[in-house]
Amino acid sequence: MQQIDVSPSAVGRVTCGSLRLDDAGKTVTLKGWVNRRRDLGGLIFIDLRDRFGTTQVVLNPQIAPAAHELASSLRNEYVIAVEGVVRQRPEGTANPKMATGEIELEGQALTILNTAKTPPFYINEEVDVDESLRLKYRYLDLRRAKMQQNIILRHRFVKYMRDYLDARGFVEVETPMLIKSTPEGARDFLVPSSGFPGAFYALPQSPQQMKQLLMVAGLDRYFQIARCFRDEAQRADRQPEFTQLDLEMTFVQEDDVMNLIEDLYVEMTERYSTKTIQQKPFPRLTYPEAMDRFGNDRPDLRFGLELRNVSDALQSTGFKAFAGVLANGGQVKALVAPGCAGYTRKQIDELTELAKQFGAKGLATIAVQADGVKSPIAKFLSEDELAALTTRISAKEGDLVLLVADQPAVVAKALSALRDEFGQRLELADPNVMAYCWVYQFPLLEWDEEGNRWDATHNPFSGYYEEDEPLLETDPGAVRAKQYDLVGNGNELGGGSVRIYQREQQERVFELMGHKREDLHERFGALLDALEYGAPPHGGIAMGIDRFAMLLADEESIRDVIAFPKNQRGIDLMFEAPSPVDDQQIHDLGMEVRPDVKAEAAESLRVAEGEPEPVAAES
Ligand code: AMO
Ligand code: AMP
Repeated sequence: MQQIDVSPSAVGRVTCGSLRLDDAGKTVTLKGWVNRRRDLGGLIFIDLRDRFGTTQVVLNPQIAPAAHELASSLRNEYVIAVEGVVRQRPEGTANPKMATGEIELEGQALTILNTAKTPPFYINEEVDVDESLRLKYRYLDLRRAKMQQNIILRHRFVKYMRDYLDARGFVEVETPMLIKSTPEGARDFLVPSSGFPGAFYALPQSPQQMKQLLMVAGLDRYFQIARCFRDEAQRADRQPEFTQLDLEMTFVQEDDVMNLIEDLYVEMTERYSTKTIQQKPFPRLTYPEAMDRFGNDRPDLRFGLELRNVSDALQSTGFKAFAGVLANGGQVKALVAPGCAGYTRKQIDELTELAKQFGAKGLATIAVQADGVKSPIAKFLSEDELAALTTRISAKEGDLVLLVADQPAVVAKALSALRDEFGQRLELADPNVMAYCWVYQFPLLEWDEEGNRWDATHNPFSGYYEEDEPLLETDPGAVRAKQYDLVGNGNELGGGSVRIYQREQQERVFELMGHKREDLHERFGALLDALEYGAPPHGGIAMGIDRFAMLLADEESIRDVIAFPKNQRGIDLMFEAPSPVDDQQIHDLGMEVRPDVKAEAAESLRVAEGEPEPVAAES
């Protein structure tokens, strides 16, 4: 990562990272935290730390008896000020690993600015600490070097984003946090209004409608480092509140938005990480292609292991499990795991369990061994079918072929999970590589079984290909949206679309989604009205900042790149939020909490704050 040296004059004081050999002879005062104290043969050595670095301080009883005396009471994390003279370290004691390793501060006067209790975990060493403890004492966790780097990295690239967009004519606009609900597919966080008891604001799931209105307003190019709130199940890459680089542009097509973001992400990756970008320009996959080849709309392209459709080879199979699926319009697809032909029964059972967790009814395997193929389903398949299966997908000796038969959505889910599993087991994903790709041409609508209606695959404002318009009538599921997602190493880093900008079209799509015309005004009145006052064609995107920071910083969880995150249950362990509030506060809002609900909340919070985190099942 690019290091930015902050000079003492910029900071306004000499920092623990700034002194060099050139400074020898100067008298300075350093302030910071005691990282370590060592008493050696009369001398006391203190590693003094601040966010800029660490400097060695030496206290000699002959030179500074009072300071030396006081220093013997110092403990880790005390905050002190030391005045002294910078000097070259004695011959042979320089530390090339430290930026300040050629010098030390010969202390003359020492002041203890504040004492510290023994921290609940080590701050001066990288050790594995239980995450709940880290979150409870987040201010101490954030003192650790890695966490400070993460927070600073985030600051740097967000600043880069701002400068990049400013230079291209974008205007940063703040949009309100207290709004009327705007749908992004999650549940809203609601804020009761005391002025109008019984009425609620919603916190924005994204600034979607506001940014579109800014286009109608003629701002032409908007961006915002925007906070979004979504009440949904937490995962390693999800927080109930998170940050987007949100932007919108007038008179653009998909390419304009994609190219703008692609250049930005190339520049940021090259500047702020040591990872190599696998392919430039980023490969573009249509949604059907991504699903067909990887079973996933956010494939990790750092490795192959593509899914292969083998339905053709099994058209007249006598194997009931496969024949039944094919007769019902399903498919059989295969994944080839190289070098895994020797897997034991137990290992295969584990894989089968995994496939079943993701909806598969079973998992069939074929091991290609030196003396022929071994497979529990060999007895159900003809020689020809077996041969066709293995040759068609070029399985070689030593390979294990995994087959799932089902409806395409189930096959995709199960085989994609297995593909990820083998990617990990076989260590196929190079951590030093960043594989970006665009996935685009998503379906506009997907059928919602529960609601018995069409729903937007992304958001209800996405535009669609003009030539697909007739399909809205005949086959809504086949209409392609002008929607694009940026994917990086298997993560959805962002997504956006070219929007609908005519009222007629927007109402038609809303109606397909089951909104009644009379409800539309209530839910989307402002936007619909605005579309009738010279709304320009426009499009945009929102990029997840936390997820990108997580990738750049090589962290497994977005919590490690957020200063004060919630845990996997949405709890802030430091402030203990959410929490019950005063009855009076509730009363003023014209509300009441049922006594049984209140008791239950208190109990479940108590348990949740103490309990280990649940393991997220689905990725
Ligand atoms: P979308 O819902 O796809 O699009 O969000 C954009 C990006 O935000 C990130 N993201 C999250 N990050 C952390 N925690 C979460 N809970 C979370 N949810 C989403 C992802 C995602 O790709 N208004 C549209 C954008 C548009 O059409 O312009 C929107 O919000 O990286
Ligand atoms: P069965 O006939 O159910 O005993 O299954 C025989 C083998 O086929 C077992 O190894 C099952 O795991 C596998 N199998 C059954 N159904 C499917 C399916 N839908 N897809 C893949 N393999 C299956």
